[in-house]
Amino acid sequence: MVRAARAARRRAYAPYSRFAVGAAVLTASEEIITGCNVENASYGLSMCAERVAMHRAVAEGHRRLKAVAVAAPGGAMPCGACRQVMCEFGITHVVIAGTRGTARLHTLADLLPDAFGPADLR
Ligand code: THU
Repeated sequence: MVRAARAARRRAYAPYSRFAVGAAVLTASEEIITGCNVENASYGLSMCAERVAMHRAVAEGHRRLKAVAVAAPGGAMPCGACRQVMCEFGITHVVIAGTRGTARLHTLADLLPDAFGPADLR
């Protein structure tokens, strides 16, 4: 997953921030699906690498996801919006890969405590 996230980072479209991010999602069926951040001249339309990867997984038929690896400069952590989408699709583990070196494993429960999620609407 770390290798896949770092490779996906090379495809980032980030001409405005110059902050390239890659992500790799592990599905319940053990497939890896990647994403990169995709920015827009209308800045607010930009999309994070994590959400590109997760939404791509859903579009390819994977609604149950297990983990995501994120490769961002300085080992940056996922934004709040991406954490909420991770919760939606059942991600429990988040690997913070950075761009090189060793990675760190976090639980989504630590990154998004007391989350509002699908169960609250049942
Ligand atoms: N970004 C991500 O792709 N993932 C994150 O977790 C944080 C931020 C992107 C969005 C934007 O293209 C650039 O990084 C700077 O915010």
